Amino acid sequence: MSEVGVALELRGVSKRYPGTLAVDGVDLTVLAGEVHAIVGENGAGKSTLMKTIAGSFNDYSGEILVNTKEVALHSPAIARSVGIGMIHQELSLAPPLSVAENLLAGRLPKRFGLLDRRRTISESRRLLEQIGLNLDPNVRVEEISQHEAQLVEIAKTLGNRPCILVMDEPTSSLSRDEVGRLFEIIRRLRNQGLAIIYISHHLSEVFEIADRVTVMRDGRKVAMKEIAEATPAQIVEMMIGGMVSDLYAERAAAPGEYRFRVTGLTRWGFFHEVSFSVRKGEIFGIGGLSGSGRSELARSLCGIDPVDAGTIELDGRRLKPSCYREAIEAGIAYLTEDRKQAGLALRMTMAENALSAVIPRLCRLGVYLPGRWRDRLTELISSLRVSPPDPGAETGSLSGGNQQKVLLAKWLAAGPEVLILDEPTRGVDVGAKGIIHRAIAKLADDGKSVILISSDLPELVGLSDRIAIMRKGRLIGEMAGTDCAEEAVLLAANGEVEMLKT
Ligand SMILES: Nc1ncnc2c1ncn2[C@@H]1O[C@H](COP(=O)(O)OP(=O)(O)OP(=O)(O)O)[C@@H](O)[C@H]1O
Ligand SMILES: [Mg+2]
Repeated sequence: MSEVGVALELRGVSKRYPGTLAVDGVDLTVLAGEVHAIVGENGAGKSTLMKTIAGSFNDYSGEILVNTKEVALHSPAIARSVGIGMIHQELSLAPPLSVAENLLAGRLPKRFGLLDRRRTISESRRLLEQIGLNLDPNVRVEEISQHEAQLVEIAKTLGNRPCILVMDEPTSSLSRDEVGRLFEIIRRLRNQGLAIIYISHHLSEVFEIADRVTVMRDGRKVAMKEIAEATPAQIVEMMIGGMVSDLYAERAAAPGEYRFRVTGLTRWGFFHEVSFSVRKGEIFGIGGLSGSGRSELARSLCGIDPVDAGTIELDGRRLKPSCYREAIEAGIAYLTEDRKQAGLALRMTMAENALSAVIPRLCRLGVYLPGRWRDRLTELISSLRVSPPDPGAETGSLSGGNQQKVLLAKWLAAGPEVLILDEPTRGVDVGAKGIIHRAIAKLADDGKSVILISSDLPELVGLSDRIAIMRKGRLIGEMAGTDCAEEAVLLAANGEVEMLKT
């Protein structure tokens, strides 16, 4: 290969964490004007490799060449200065600050030594426009949604005009429309000659956007292929080093009687007149675009957020609205889509997080007795195949997909009657997804009720017994089992068909 056009070259790069060789002798060549995908199971070392490139570590080994010159990428500032831009898997925005302050962090425009507000706002608008996001730069990041935050993160990185752009699961919070828009941006940047590294667990995305793909397993590079010469099945086999078993779990029992009833539930400005009932042993799916009000509904269903009207009933008992404690005690659990901000305490151990929802039950007469739960925890860790399977590991040191499994373990340990899942498999690999799907199906087979919110259409359609669509804060239409086709859900979510009848 001629040296011209090689934007980034890695030779035998390794990075060790205490006790783990996360990246093991990786060679990688990324060309200017290509989208190079990196795939691999949870914990394969993808994020660690990208963080190395972004200058997060000063103790990696091996050589890294940027535009054919060797550089020691020992700090984020060095990486930025040689033109590397990184969009992190776990967003790096400061929630209490405004969108504008986040976008221009470290390079806010000044005038006579003071902040130049007009330029700050106009420059922010320009960056947001570039990615087609219509957002007031003055609002604080903590007030915007997860998917808007993801786009803000992207705009912020592009603001530094990188020549190598690293994207670690940039689409995990985006809807299909937004993914489409992001892909337009990526294609434009590629045509401008940027080298783009793209990490995703969605192989369909990889096949749509990438030119070449590198597969990682256990910290090593196992293959590199031209996309045009690869098939999804091949890639998956290389990722897991074997064949995939059936992704969607078979359901055993048929759903029983209706037991969770929601009537006319309204929170002004978020969702309106929402009514539905879920049966014992049923998985009730809610489809829709991001921003349609699904997460807001979920938060109100379990009493985190207030409601303005309507009722929630479980087994014939009316629940006090806006009371999280009562909802928890009644057996309603909510798995948040936002694991980093709200779901997990990253500095605490896996065991502490997984058992945090059952702490009251760990105590007998005021004595803390976690020992009784150790077996249950060990069982959960092994059935969800959390890696490493060490209950004492700090949660923040787990890979993104494994953190998601700990969050799920937390609610499975609590043994809820009604489990509301908001994007339960975000960021998990194909194999782990199957495990989580089986865990959800088993919960329903054990007679529990599951409400599944998912933007992953194959998942929503594959798991749900019934699906309703949320659109602009209203539940429209409902489809039963066999009538749920991906296409139909997509059309309904976009408002392209009036009403869905079964
Ligand atoms: N801060 C850390 N301290 C110790 N070990 C870590 C740390 N971060 C990651 N690891 C370990 O390094 C390995 C690689 O993790 P990494 O986050 O790079 O995986 P990944 O391929 O990005 O996975 P995912 O698809 O789940 O995001 C894993 O075994 C993980 O547990
Ligand atoms: Mg990762």
